Amino acid sequence: MVTELSCCLTPLVVITYNPRQLKLKTTMLKQLQELKLKALQELESIRDFKQLESWRIQYLGKKSSLTTMLRRLASLPLAERKTAGARANQVKADLEDSLRQKEQALREVQLATHVKAETIDITLPGRPAPTGRLHPITQTLNEICDIFAAMGFQVVEGPDVEWDYYNFEALNIPEEHPARDTMSTCWVETDSGERPMLLRTHTTSVSARTIERTTPPIRVVAPGKVYRYEASDATHVPMFHQVDGQVVDKGITMADLKGTLYEFARRFFGEERPVRFRCDYFPFVEPGVEMAIGCLVCDGQGCRLCGHSGWIEILGAGMTHPRVLQLGGIDPEIYSGFAFGIGIERLPMLRYGIDDIRLFYGSDLRFLRQF
Ligand code: DAH
Repeated sequence: MVTELSCCLTPLVVITYNPRQLKLKTTMLKQLQELKLKALQELESIRDFKQLESWRIQYLGKKSSLTTMLRRLASLPLAERKTAGARANQVKADLEDSLRQKEQALREVQLATHVKAETIDITLPGRPAPTGRLHPITQTLNEICDIFAAMGFQVVEGPDVEWDYYNFEALNIPEEHPARDTMSTCWVETDSGERPMLLRTHTTSVSARTIERTTPPIRVVAPGKVYRYEASDATHVPMFHQVDGQVVDKGITMADLKGTLYEFARRFFGEERPVRFRCDYFPFVEPGVEMAIGCLVCDGQGCRLCGHSGWIEILGAGMTHPRVLQLGGIDPEIYSGFAFGIGIERLPMLRYGIDDIRLFYGSDLRFLRQF
């Protein structure tokens, strides 16, 4: 038993010898020392927050041996309790301190790893970002529309699913007209009975719509998809593209038609390419013509591509039929016009020597990436 007596100068300590309690205290101090060493040693080898948390629970948690020891202090006499208690609290404080330091150290390591992982090596060569591109047909459509836009044409669009009226009737192709048979039509079933619908067989339907809703002067090109009920082969697909053109004004003549289309051919095929017009028949124009250019392969000498004629037909055209103007509400006594229709797929085929139209729609990127 240790009792402290306040005396004059130094505290007088009277020791009542109790070997059992003394032993308890000595053991406890030894245990504390060992505990601290072990804990610090283990702490040293910890590498992550999960391990750190188990360490905290083991050495500083409610069920840790340190807490148990602190509880056992109660069984010591007051003076013993003070020294042993102070020691135990010191160990606890040291461990808590080391815990905080370790936590800080781990956090720094974590940050460093993070920063390292995110570091960009600016000396590395760049990774190429794959870029998309426009389909060769879209490119051709754009090129043609640009050429006509530069000549003062407006670009207009219309529906792919069309009334029979705009595709045929309004273009001077009535019910029994044989021209209907030449355009194998995809009909659309409707509830409307008397008003048949179809997938437009040409974008001339958009010209018919434009004539109906516009007061001249008219100067438009209509690019878009067209559909025919046909089997595919090297020169046919059931869906392809056209640009239809329509000009209506006072005093429009065949000279305007020729001047405009010559200019188009010059810009699209080059200055030197010869151009030829010949008579042709289309119900919505009178007179009708076809325009051909000198063969790109043989330069007019005659080869397989041009059927040994030296010429390749690229579009149909003509002076807008008075009946078409009339049906669209325009007086043909006052106004006249010309029209043309260009099949798009043939143009890049001629330009790049592509011998199968189906290549455009086969989704083979090795082919498409060349344009
Ligand atoms: N629409 C015609 C076809 O698909 C092409 C055509 C010919 C359009 C003469 C026209 C034209 O505007 O005047 O075969």
